[in-house]
Amino acid sequence: MTYEQAKASWQASHPPAHYLSVADLNPRTAQIVLELAHAMKRATHSGQELFRFACPVALALIFEKPSLRTRVTLEVGLYQMGAHGVYLTQSDIQMGKREAVMDIARNLGRWVQGVIARVFLHTALEELARFSDVPVINALSDREHPCQALADLMTIQERKGTQPLTLVWVGDGNNVCHSFTLLAALLGHRVRVATPEGYAPHEAILNQAQAFAAQSGGSVELLHDPRAAVADADVVYTDVWVSMGFETEREARLRKFLPYQVNEELLRLAKPDAIVLHCLPARRGEEITDAVLDDAQSAVWDQAENRLHTQKALIALMLG
Ligand code: CP
Ligand code: NVA
Repeated sequence: MTYEQAKASWQASHPPAHYLSVADLNPRTAQIVLELAHAMKRATHSGQELFRFACPVALALIFEKPSLRTRVTLEVGLYQMGAHGVYLTQSDIQMGKREAVMDIARNLGRWVQGVIARVFLHTALEELARFSDVPVINALSDREHPCQALADLMTIQERKGTQPLTLVWVGDGNNVCHSFTLLAALLGHRVRVATPEGYAPHEAILNQAQAFAAQSGGSVELLHDPRAAVADADVVYTDVWVSMGFETEREARLRKFLPYQVNEELLRLAKPDAIVLHCLPARRGEEITDAVLDDAQSAVWDQAENRLHTQKALIALMLG
């Protein structure tokens, strides 16, 4: 696939103005991003770039929370495509404190061609998008991590192809879980989510994912028994038990989540060729053991690499 073919299909498939949620995609636009990401990865690995901006392009990269993967893959990806990212922390711009979110959006739209933001409150992203003349992309909020989900599904396609699979989430029904469940359901997979009582994904997200599954032929099931969930899984995915912003709940969470640790014993219930995903950073010895994270079944380093290729594809399609 060339970039021009991907862009023409994208424009004909009701592309989103902003990417705040996986629900901004449809099955076709999601597939186009993934196909272009695979092609861009092959090109980059052979020292080529499939897409470069023809005129000067700059994006604002707003980070209210720390990041390794998201920041580095965005900055490197923009560099590879001939664009520039302006990194802004909360201490620089103090969204909503030093200046109203809507005023920040109106200013940025005069200088940059896109805004990518990692925020505490998803509502701040929605406000940025409402007042922004340029595309806004979610780089993680309390509600979703939609860029992560693209890398997750790309990694699954690399390892397992595009046929429907049993994808199991074990742990907290958090932002990463939300976006993963939505995208997996959109693309026709059978999704099982196993969380402790009280830590299930938001009901609105589950309803949306179930609506996607009804269209795609997939399914979404909520369980509280991690062993039943992992039985015969093709993919087992977990994330930290204490997400950024939830640190005060740490002690209570560690007690409740202990049975949900992804360890060798739990993984034995999955298919023998199952792969393990983790968005990283991992708390080794909490939600995942060293033995599982460092095992050949773990696809986490490819998954982290694929943040680069999927975000490049998304940015090239939305801004190119
Ligand atoms: N997975 C992920 O978003 O990692 P960072 O928090 O390091 O960006
Ligand atoms: N759920 C985690 C993901 C980090 C990439 C968090 O929000 O902290």
